[in-house]
Amino acid sequence: MPTNKCIGVISVGHFLPHMCVANDHFVSIGLDTSPEWIESRSGIRTRHIASDNQATSDLAVGAAEMAFKNGPISSNQIDFIIVATATPDHIGFPSTACLVQQKLGLTHSVECLDISAACSGFTYALSLAYSKIHSGMGQYGLVIGAETLSRLVDWSDRRTCILFGDGAGAAIVGTVDSGGFIGFNQGADGNCSHILNCLPTENAVQFSGKPYPPGVSMIHMDGQSVFKKGIQVVVDSLTQLLSEANINSNSIDHVVCHQANQRIISSVAKQMGIPLEKFVINIDRVGNTSAASIPLALSEANARINPGDTVILVGFGSGFTWSSILLKWN
Ligand code: COA
Repeated sequence: MPTNKCIGVISVGHFLPHMCVANDHFVSIGLDTSPEWIESRSGIRTRHIASDNQATSDLAVGAAEMAFKNGPISSNQIDFIIVATATPDHIGFPSTACLVQQKLGLTHSVECLDISAACSGFTYALSLAYSKIHSGMGQYGLVIGAETLSRLVDWSDRRTCILFGDGAGAAIVGTVDSGGFIGFNQGADGNCSHILNCLPTENAVQFSGKPYPPGVSMIHMDGQSVFKKGIQVVVDSLTQLLSEANINSNSIDHVVCHQANQRIISSVAKQMGIPLEKFVINIDRVGNTSAASIPLALSEANARINPGDTVILVGFGSGFTWSSILLKWN
């Protein structure tokens, strides 16, 4: 039976692998770049990289454990787990969500699935969690964005490897006394799939410096097209979201935008007329962590978001996909 109760984010958590790599690393491995170029063009100074024995599901479990610790819902109350990732533990199956269920030691019946919407994955997953709870198909969900993007980039390609990092963020979603989700706006434009995709690549190099197998699928990107399209879809999506909710941008307290490029975030702030100070920013420390980006930034900012604050989450990425959510913080 559909519920009339408010549905919102109950608690959040995040996890970053220990290894932190600064911009001078790229010079030390022989790339024709500089720490100054990387920081000035992207805003990134460091990113975290998973160790060889850390799978995407391990990062996801770290984030989930923190989300359970931070809130009143325990893992055995969870009805479903959704993992948004472009870097699942296995190509094909089992899903990373099933591995998270196993690693959390959950033996009760939990629905587990992964979704693929690139950097919009977490917000797509949150809207799915909302729909499931609203329709009565579960009371509490664990929604995770987790990535090991460092394994999807060619570390000899200076156009891409400087941008990405590994990490995870998680949210427990369920019924709340008041507030919660107000509106959703999301979509995709498959005609732009070619500007950011994964293609068979020869002579690609791993983070360790060892070669990848020939023809391995690696990230390819038309940086300038992604830059322009990203700003356009985020501004359009936010404009529609606010208009449908009949909310003025002055009423927004915090914006958690996908952390792809500091200059993209600044441009969105300017075009939306929302002060940059209201945007949560951690790209300088963690780089672009794709589906993990929004929940990671949200969890890091949790201490300064007050109950009742109006929050926007907005993502964009390969597909091309975009997704924005308006909610009152609980
Ligand atoms: N170091 C030094 N020079 C670099 C470089 C690097 N790491 N990467 C590219 N360059 C060079 C280019 O080869 C180019 O040289 P050329 O003029 O001789 O051809 C020059 O710098 C300018 O390249 P350009 O692509 O125009 O730079 P840019 O200002 O657009 O910045 C990005 C590049 C990738 C930082 C930027 O386009 C971007 O962030 N795009 C969006 C990426 C994104 O958000 N991806 C994820 C979406 S989810």
